[in-house]
Order: sequence, then C-alpha cells, then structure tokens
Amino acid sequence: MPLPAPPPAATTGAGPRVPLRAAILGTGSVAHLHAAALRDLPGVELVAAADPSEQHLAAFAEAYGLPGRHTSLADLLAAEDIDVLHICTPPGGHAEQTVAAFAHGAHVVVEKPAALSLAQLDLMVDAGRAAGRGLAVVFQQRSGSAAAQVKQLLDSGTLGRPLSALCQTSWYRTADYFAVPWRGTWATEGGGTTLSHGSHQIDLLAYLLGEWRAVQATMWRLQHDVETEDLSHASLVFESGAVASVVSTVLAPRQSSLLRIDTENATIELEHLYGHGHAHWRITAADHVDAGTAGGWVLPDQEVPSGHDALFTEVYASLVAGRGMPDVVDHPTRALEIVTGMYASARDGRWISRADLADPALRGPLAGPIIEGRPEGRSAGPAA
Ligand SMILES: NC(=O)c1ccc[n+]([C@@H]2O[C@H](COP(=O)([O-])OP(=O)(O)OC[C@H]3O[C@@H](n4cnc5c(N)ncnc54)[C@H](O)[C@@H]3O)[C@@H](O)[C@H]2O)c1
Repeated sequence: MPLPAPPPAATTGAGPRVPLRAAILGTGSVAHLHAAALRDLPGVELVAAADPSEQHLAAFAEAYGLPGRHTSLADLLAAEDIDVLHICTPPGGHAEQTVAAFAHGAHVVVEKPAALSLAQLDLMVDAGRAAGRGLAVVFQQRSGSAAAQVKQLLDSGTLGRPLSALCQTSWYRTADYFAVPWRGTWATEGGGTTLSHGSHQIDLLAYLLGEWRAVQATMWRLQHDVETEDLSHASLVFESGAVASVVSTVLAPRQSSLLRIDTENATIELEHLYGHGHAHWRITAADHVDAGTAGGWVLPDQEVPSGHDALFTEVYASLVAGRGMPDVVDHPTRALEIVTGMYASARDGRWISRADLADPALRGPLAGPIIEGRPEGRSAGPAA
C-alpha cells in the first residue's frame, strides 16, 4: 500500500522542535533497550510503537505507557508525526522500513545488522541523503567514555602506529536461540555469527583503527543446524598497515569479547562481554615510553559505560542541537563492508580489498560457502 506523504518539516523555526518525537518499529527483545534508554533521555519523547504481533505490541505499549499503537509501519507513519524512527525488526525488513521512514521525513536509528547486503544499505544511505535526514546504525560498543578516550589517543598519534590487533567475539548460543524463524538463514538473517555477533567488535576495532584495506577469511559450521557459519577466522588489514586477527563464534562456553591493539608505544586491551566500562580496559606503555607521557594515557574521571543509553544520549544531544547525527555513528556502512569482504573472501578463496567491493556482484545478498565441520559431515555448497 502506498505510504502517506511526509508531513511538513517539524521545526520551530530556529531548530528542531524539542522534545523530538520518536517511535519504535518492532517490539521484541532489543526494543526494550531502546525504550528504556529513551524514557530516561532529555529532549525526546517516545510516542508510539508498531508491531504486527499484537501480543508483543500490547505488552510493550503498556510497559512504556505509549499512546500510539499500530500493527504496521504504514499505519504508524499515517497516524503519527514523528522525528525519529527506531527500527528494531529482523534485518530483512530494515532497508524498506528505513527508506519509508526517510520518505516521511524522519531520522532513522536502525539496529545492526543494518541490512542484508551492501546494495540494500546503499539504498538506505541514498534515501537519507535525499531526504536530508540522518541514519544511525546501532553499534553501541563504540559509545562510552573509554572508547572515546582510546580513539582520541590513537588519533592523536601519542600511542604511535598501530601494528597488530586481536578481535575476538567468543559468545555462546544454543539451539533454542536459532529456533527463532528469522535466525540462521542467509535470506532472513543475512549471515551467521560474523554478521550478527562479531560485527559489534569488528565495528569497534574499525572505529578505533580507521579505514580498512583488505580481508581474507574462512567460515566454518562446527555445531549448529543452520545455513550460516557458527565460527569464522579472518585476517583484516587496515590502511594504517595494522593487521588484525579476527575470530567470531557462538561456540564458546566461557563467553568474552576481546580486543587487543599493539601500537609502537603501547598495548591496549579490552575484555568484556556485551558492554564495557573503564575497568574493562587496560593501557600498558612500552618500556621506552617516559613516565610523564604514559601518565597522560588515562581514562577520564567521569565514566560513561558503553550501551544503548550512551549511544542514544549522543544521538539525541546532536539531533536536538540541530547538528544531525553525531560523529560516534559515522561510517554506517563500514562494518557491513568488512563482513561482506569476509564472506566474499571465504567464497572466492582470495583476499578481498575495499576497492573490490565497488563490484556490484559483491554488493548483493551475502552467502557462504561454509566449511562443514559437523561430525555428520553434511555437504555445504554455496547457499543459493
Ligand atoms: N545491538 C544489540 O546489541 C542487539 C541485540 C539484540 C538484537 N539486535 C538486533 O535487533 C534486531 C531485532 O532483534 P530482536 O532480538 O529484538 O528480535 P525479536 O525477534 O525479539 O523481535 C523482533 C520484533 O519485530 C517484530 N516485527 C517483525 N516484522 C515486523 C514488521 N514488518 N514491522 C514491525 N514489527 C515487526 C516482531 O513481531 C518482533 O516483535 C535484529 O536486527 C538484531 O540483530 C541488536
């Protein structure tokens, strides 16, 4: 059904109206993190939600006292005058929903993975540009005071050139997790653990180290009864010349998320699970660094843990000030580019450079093949 025309721009003349009016599309698990964060934020009011599951919608709208309740995005956009749409639906719908929200004049905050392919993400970015609205992909591990300070130290050059990195997402998921219908298939989830879980750490690594140059990967299915991978290994090279070893898996009984960056002058380490505060980070100076310089490599007194709350605080502070999306959500396509490069590398058995991704054939839907490692040894050709 055609979407309604966008309402007039919601401004007060001098800048955006405040509070901004936000709505949430999809009221499953992650939507609760969005609603809880928005409830506590100044400058924004959560006014509506939509979900075809009336059961999810009713429970969610009751929990957050939402006046606007709709069973489709089209109904929500027709009935509500909103400034920001938070998209918390399964990834297969993100592209169409984002484009519709931009056409309606709203900014978009979309959960990871942003889309099922770079081609879809291109459409989303182009639609945002055409509408003059911002797109934020929720990679909340970029947020918080520690990541900001470590990024500032790396960018300033005081730590020297980054040389080697480890990026490990060792999570654990049982068969129940994959019983949700949209998980575990290329068509509906878009990828396996590399895309759905590892991309958080990969995104944080690239947030800290900057642009990437090339990647080589292998994809494995060792345990789960899914189409996609449950383990991947990759070498990721950055424009700086730094080389990272990247492991993503859902087969790790002791779960952890790990980053380690060795630079000319220091080792930076982060170990956490789904979010980090200052206690999760460690910066160790090389012996040749004088005490005065190393003494400056500290995290700020005021600690802001990473998370949806921290990310949305920055997003709304920037939107309310009329500055559009903040720097912390820059490069909305980078994590998907790297992961796409990994899948293409595993499929083609070669290094994939960032430049290679200009080829439209590599911007389409993602797919294996996956190396089959389960005992029953099912064949694992490329997914259709
Ligand atoms: N950033 C994070 O840490 C994080 C954590 C969990 C999930 N996620 C991401 O969030 C997204 C949703 O995951 P989830 O675990 O909340 O899924 P979920 O299955 O728990 O919830 C999805 C909800 O979307 C609804 N829905 C489906 N199609 C819809 C449509 N067309 N319009 C409106 N609603 C629709 C479903 O009814 C359901 O209520 C995924 O992309 C996932 O990868 C991110």
